[in-house]
Formats: sequence, C-alpha cells, structure tokens
Amino acid sequence: MAVDDGNDTDQKTRYICLFRNRGKVKALAEKLYEQKCLDLDKEFEIHFGIAHTRWATHGVPNEVNSHPHRSDKSNEFVVVHNGIITNYKDLRKFLESKNYVFESETDTEVIPKLTKYLYDNRENEDIGFSALVERVVQQLEGAFALVFKSRHFPGEAVATRRGSPLLIGIRSKNRLFTDQIPILYQAHKNNKNDPISKAHKIEHEDFKFPGEDKTVEFYFASDASAIIEHTNKVIFLEDDDIAAVVDGCLSIHRAERSVGDSASRTIHTLQIELQQIMKGNFKAFMQKEIFEQPESIVNTLRGRVNFTNSTVMLGGLRDHVKEIKRCRRLLLIGCGTSYHAAVATRQILEELTELPVMVELASDFLDRSTPVFRDDVCFFISQSGETADSLMALRYCKDRGALTVGITNTVGSSISRETDCGIHINAGPEIGVASTKAYTSQFVSLIMFGLMMSEDRISMQERRKDIIAGLQFLPDLIKEVLSLDEKIQQLAQELFQHKSLLVMGRGYHYATCLEGALKIKEITYMHSEGILAGELKHGPLALVDKLMPVIMIVMKDSCYTKCQNAMQQVAARQGRPIVLCAKNDEESTKFAYRTIEVPHSVDCLQGILTVIPLQLLSFHLAVLRGYDVDFPRNLAKSVTVE
Ligand code: AGP
Repeated sequence: MAVDDGNDTDQKTRYICLFRNRGKVKALAEKLYEQKCLDLDKEFEIHFGIAHTRWATHGVPNEVNSHPHRSDKSNEFVVVHNGIITNYKDLRKFLESKNYVFESETDTEVIPKLTKYLYDNRENEDIGFSALVERVVQQLEGAFALVFKSRHFPGEAVATRRGSPLLIGIRSKNRLFTDQIPILYQAHKNNKNDPISKAHKIEHEDFKFPGEDKTVEFYFASDASAIIEHTNKVIFLEDDDIAAVVDGCLSIHRAERSVGDSASRTIHTLQIELQQIMKGNFKAFMQKEIFEQPESIVNTLRGRVNFTNSTVMLGGLRDHVKEIKRCRRLLLIGCGTSYHAAVATRQILEELTELPVMVELASDFLDRSTPVFRDDVCFFISQSGETADSLMALRYCKDRGALTVGITNTVGSSISRETDCGIHINAGPEIGVASTKAYTSQFVSLIMFGLMMSEDRISMQERRKDIIAGLQFLPDLIKEVLSLDEKIQQLAQELFQHKSLLVMGRGYHYATCLEGALKIKEITYMHSEGILAGELKHGPLALVDKLMPVIMIVMKDSCYTKCQNAMQQVAARQGRPIVLCAKNDEESTKFAYRTIEVPHSVDCLQGILTVIPLQLLSFHLAVLRGYDVDFPRNLAKSVTVE
C-alpha cells in the first residue's frame, strides 16, 4: 500500500498496493511498515506493499490481529484479506496438528500458513506463485479478496477474490494500447518457468510513450474511491480470477473456462473525479454529502425524466418493462438505509404499479428461505453493490428464476454486474459510512420506476403529472431544507447530552423515522428508535415522560389527523414533542416544544424533505459528542461479510 507515494522514486518503479479506505489505510500501512513485514522488493525496480483496514470479524482490533498476516516469523508468505473465512477453525486445527503456531485470533491467519504448508509440500519444485494461490483458495470457504506476497517469489504480487470486491487500478503516464486483457487458462501458468505470452499480460510496452517514462503502477483495492486519486483506469476482477504481477507485468488467470464466461477483462475508465471524493470546506464527508443532495437528485433525474411531456425512461429497464408488468409481485430487498429506501417507496409503488410489493431485509429474507418464483421481480437496493447479504439474496433469487433488478450507486459492483437489469442511481461517490445522498437518490430512482410502469394508465395521469412536477421542484426544496442547518444545530445543542431519542411518524414517514433513528444511533451512539405512530399505544407510549426527547413527523397527508392524535397523546404524558411539520402548520405547532418546518411537496416525495433535517441533526449531535462522523466505531462502509 501507500508505503510510497511515487514522488521520490526512480521513474521505472512500479507499485502494487491494496487500499480499502484511503485515510485509514495510509496511516495503518505506515505503522505496519515499521513494525511488520512490508519490506520493499528492490529487484526489477519494483516496490510492493500491502495493508488493510480490517473488519474485526474475529478477534478484537489490536496490532496482533491487524493485517498483513504471515506464515511464520521470517515472513515467507504474507497476506491481506477482506472478507471472512468460514472454515477457518478446521483449517487452523489441521495446521496446528502440523506444528504451525498461530499469533492472532483472526480467521485470516490460516491463509498464509496454509500457503506455506502447500508450498513446503509441493510435488513440483517449479510451482508458480499464482498456481500456489489457486491451490490455497480451493481450500477456503467464505468470502474473500486476498493479496499475497512472498519471499520465495520476489517482486511478485498475486491477488484473487470470491464474494468480496476487488479491482485493479492501472496508472501510467502513457496511453494503453489495449482496453482488454485476455484471461490465461490453467495450462499456461502452473510452472514458474513458463513464460506468459505478450498477449496475456500488460506491461510497459503496452503504453504508448513519447518519452522514456515507462512507469507502471498497479493498485489492488476493494473500492474505486480508494485509488481514484492515482488512476481512473480500472479492471473489476470476477470471482475466482487470479491476478498476478510478475516483473511488473499484469496477467489474469483462471482455473477453467465455463460456458458464457468472457475470455477477457475490460479496462474501464471511471468517470469519478478526485474532487468528488475530497471534503472541500466541509468538516466531514457526511456533511458534504448531505449538502450535495440538490445536485445528486438532479443527477439521478438527468436524462430520464421529461418534464415537458411528463414521461420517464429508464434505459437500464427499457427492455424488461413488459416482463415486469406481467409479474406476480415485486420484492424490494436491501440492508440498512437501502432497506429504508424500499420502505419509503413501497406505498407509492403499490399505487402506481397495482402490484403487491414486499419489502425485505436481505439477511432475514435468506434466514427464512423465502419462497421466490419465476414470475417474481426482485429488486436489490445497495449503495455499494457489494453488501454480502444483498448479494447472496440476489443469487438465491436468480437460482429460482426470478428477474433481478439492481438499484446501485457503484458502476462495476457485484450487484450491478450480476442482476439482469437495473438503475444506476448516479448519486456520485459516497464516502461517509452513514449513507445520506444515496438514500434520497435510491428513493427517487424507485419513484421513477413506478412512474415508468404507470405511463399507459389513463386513471393515473393526473397523479403522475403531480409527482413529475414535484420531482422538478425537489432540488430547490432540498436547498430550502438545508438552509435550516443552523436551527438544527441549535436543537442538537439541547439534545446532545441525552441518552435516547425517539422518532415517530406513520404512512409515508415511517421510513424517515427508521432512517433518522439509524443515522442517530450509527454516528452518535445514542439509543434511538424509529416508531410507527400507530403502534404508540401498543407499547412505546410507556417510554414517554418529560425527559424523553421525541421527534414527531406530522405532514399534511392522509395520516395528518392520526399523527396529531399521537402528538396529543405524547403531550398528555408531559412529553415535549419536537415537531417536524409543513411550513405554516399552526395546528401542529400548538403542542410542540420545538418545531422544524419544511416546505411542502407531493405526499410521496415529502419523505425526502423530512429525512434531511434528521441527517443534519445526527451529524451535529455526533460532532457535539466528539465522535468521528465519517468513521463510526465498529462499522464499515461496505459490509462485505455476512
Ligand atoms: C447506512 O448509514 C449504513 N451505513 C448501512 O445501513 C448501509 O446502508 C447498509 O450496510 C447497506 O449498504 P449498501 O447500501 O451498500 O448495500
């Protein structure tokens, strides 16, 4: 990893790195470099370092459990791993029986030790590094992206994945001749003396260079945002691909070719700009992303909604609309915030499509082995496109013959590649662990889908026109909500020392309650619960007293009177409701201890305007409580483990 930034080294130096999360990895790698096994290979003028910010699935976060892990004290093999090895106990038992001594509590440590075991017991002296890695991964179960380094193979890096994302960034000052790299199959690679043909690797000659600069750098990373400051040329590896950099040349291997497999990997040029992932004048990425929502919504709508003739065209679904219209039901599946986007839009999708709509948490959906049929249409909503539970639910639905639709924010992600069709939400890179702009763009994308499905329904034309007009004004209304920031900061001053915060609402705003409470607990570590106001009398009312802060969402829609009743019940128990209501709603402000007034929009879009004050509130609460907003404890941006 970033043991070197490339500024002070020889022009022909090449780097091979694993990044996961830019800032943290850099600090971690520097530390590991001092303490552990990140020696630089000087042969062939190659620099190679690996590091990883680990998700503490096994063992507490400490130095011994940190990556890379090693085969032995002399670092014959070192490995970084993103994911989880589910059969590590059996492997560890086996290796301990062979006298391997483990240093850490991690699942990962079995990998370098198993590599050494297979190397020491090789039947062929000439085994190559990638062939060895292939044998190692045959023994592994679970999800993994791995990068290997070895003293036995100086200057070589080998990386592979199964179930966890992995991409390779390629950087050179010169232009690549090709945008495809052919896959090399088994026969070519078992022996380290086998030369790899020119056609199957990328080396400096593949770059057109006017001068003498032949520098090529390869970066292995889980996510493009980790490397975009270095390059926008990227190869997304597929499960079981084995990528090797040998003598500074990249090749990609696979054990075998199955029917339908592509024989090459494409080098994509990403459109993300470095500026998009810089914090600028904001205190945190989360804050920046909250304030980007007027633009991110415009980007989600761009080229898809025609405001003049009130039509919607989602290019990624065009060829499948007929089939979707014939389906038995729609299933919206996701985790966390992405699941909340499904809850937020369920009602309007039921209205516009006249189909039964089920919303499912991916983990629960799998736990229940939910029945899925060929005439179901299953949506997988995921900012990252890599969430393990959502990805497994997708494979489960595919196996049962359902049509699968991806709603993702990440081009080239596993979910976007494995679904039959989909919508890219175009929210731009989201770095803060707390999802904000992705939620509102997922929300709008699902509404656009509903609009596209109802285009030919005469009875719905007025409703559709209202919603489409509402979409047009949305960015301006979001700006208006964002101008409440100072007021919300003052409210946070009053609340930040509380232990608990309840958020209540119903109908279109139940999702806002769930999402607001998730934001609060995620980054402020306060207890927070999203409560359906209709359930108040069935239990939650017992929590209400004069000390418990309760945020109540009361909008002028079909649930208005019911929400006012709930508010009166809270006030009658000496509760002090903080009311989130429409501008100039004097009725609702009567019982309020504090009010936040947002502009009015169409009922089904109003949830976008009610969630933003809660995003802002959670941000200010976290800052006042002194927490790192972008990197909450125990959480990762992409949850690539079950
Ligand atoms: C949101 O703030 C969370 N970080 C989390 O709930 C997230 O939405 C969830 O893990 C799903 O992620 P995905 O959208 O990338 O699939």
